[in-house]
Amino acid sequence: MQVSYTWLPAGKPDITDGNVSIAMAKESFLTTTDGNKIYDAISSWWCKPLGHQHLLVRESILNQLDYFEHHIPANAINSTIETLSNRLTKIFTQMDKVMYASDGSSAVEIAMKLSYETRVLQNESHRSKFIALSGGYHGETIFTLGVCGIPEYKENYEALIPTNYFIDNITYVTGANDPLWNDCNFDSSYWDSFFSKYAPTGTALIIEPVVQGAAGMKIISRDFLIKIINLARCYDLHIIADEIMVGLGRLGCYCVSNEILGIEPDLVCFAKNLTAGAIPMSAVVINRKISDCFRKHQKTFPHSHTHSCNALAAAVAVKYLNYLDTSSILSDVKLAEVEIFKMLNNLKAKFSFVKTVSAIGSIGAIELDLPKKSLDQVFSIGIKELIYIRPIGSSLYIMPPLYNILSDLQIIETRLNGLLSRI
Ligand SMILES: Cc1ncc(COP(=O)(O)O)c(C=O)c1O
Repeated sequence: MQVSYTWLPAGKPDITDGNVSIAMAKESFLTTTDGNKIYDAISSWWCKPLGHQHLLVRESILNQLDYFEHHIPANAINSTIETLSNRLTKIFTQMDKVMYASDGSSAVEIAMKLSYETRVLQNESHRSKFIALSGGYHGETIFTLGVCGIPEYKENYEALIPTNYFIDNITYVTGANDPLWNDCNFDSSYWDSFFSKYAPTGTALIIEPVVQGAAGMKIISRDFLIKIINLARCYDLHIIADEIMVGLGRLGCYCVSNEILGIEPDLVCFAKNLTAGAIPMSAVVINRKISDCFRKHQKTFPHSHTHSCNALAAAVAVKYLNYLDTSSILSDVKLAEVEIFKMLNNLKAKFSFVKTVSAIGSIGAIELDLPKKSLDQVFSIGIKELIYIRPIGSSLYIMPPLYNILSDLQIIETRLNGLLSRI
């Protein structure tokens, strides 16, 4: 075993057998120090839509370096961040502000604090709870674990985590062609009594629009989410849309809430794709009704993150958003969805332990009916087959870079075939 002084995320203190050592990452591949070129099938934790070392990233960073990398964000503005804020608000109709942090969890915390402080300003400080979904994931800070619907992440921290309300009995689907996608047999009276019980002390409903990533890429019925959101609105809850994984390209659109669900949330969180995964940055896009409340009360929001508005990150983000406009990336993702279904169904026909297939946009998952011992070996076998893929429980999923997705699917299919053949 190698000696390392780095404690890797989601890892034990010491490097475990089977970890890879990366010498170079270029395009859709991670090249190891022993020369293997491994396909990055989960876009380096879902954040590399342009793969690695895209020219656009390099050019935008170099260009910004001629002016400054970062300056204090308090009482100071620059045209790079202003261009980005303008661009992000224009995805919506009711948004007028953007606040920045450096990671997804912090963006979710900002959204949660903004929602609650609005209540305080409106003399509703008793509305301090959040309504979240079981299976939901919004980061791993203590506050965001309060809206995490996956018990494993909370184990041992229960005493520290704020308690909130959770929606169970979610209708899941295999994709947009599943009949439940547009009609989930919504039990209106059940959900009405749920909201009438919890909404009076609630400030916001927080959702991952359509896909619950950390739960194993579970796809929620569009009809179910729309109806839950509409009910939440009737009970005057804010809607926080966590688009950190799905937003800005992953499902073939900028924003899943307005383009797939047809709703405009009150607070939308973006991260990951925002800077093509090159520089950490997250953003909360804020509805005018929230910012107006702070204006009315002449209230400062006490959240002063050192690296808010980072110019290098913003420069990449502006270029990435332009690229979404001018390239075929969004339409390619829509075509890829069909191909991913075909590919995963081929695997299901070939391997009896592949139980179900689901896909949406550029995300596809298969459910493996295998003992834990075999599931634990999937990552290492994948590395031998030159594909970086990490199952979540029994769900084996792909979320490849987007810039070359249609060509890359062939590589993924071959390597997944190799992996599954060795189980
Ligand atoms: C939906 C969602 N929310 C929040 C986060 C947390 O983001 P970060 O890891 O940047 O803190 C993630 C990360 O995977 C996510 O998928």
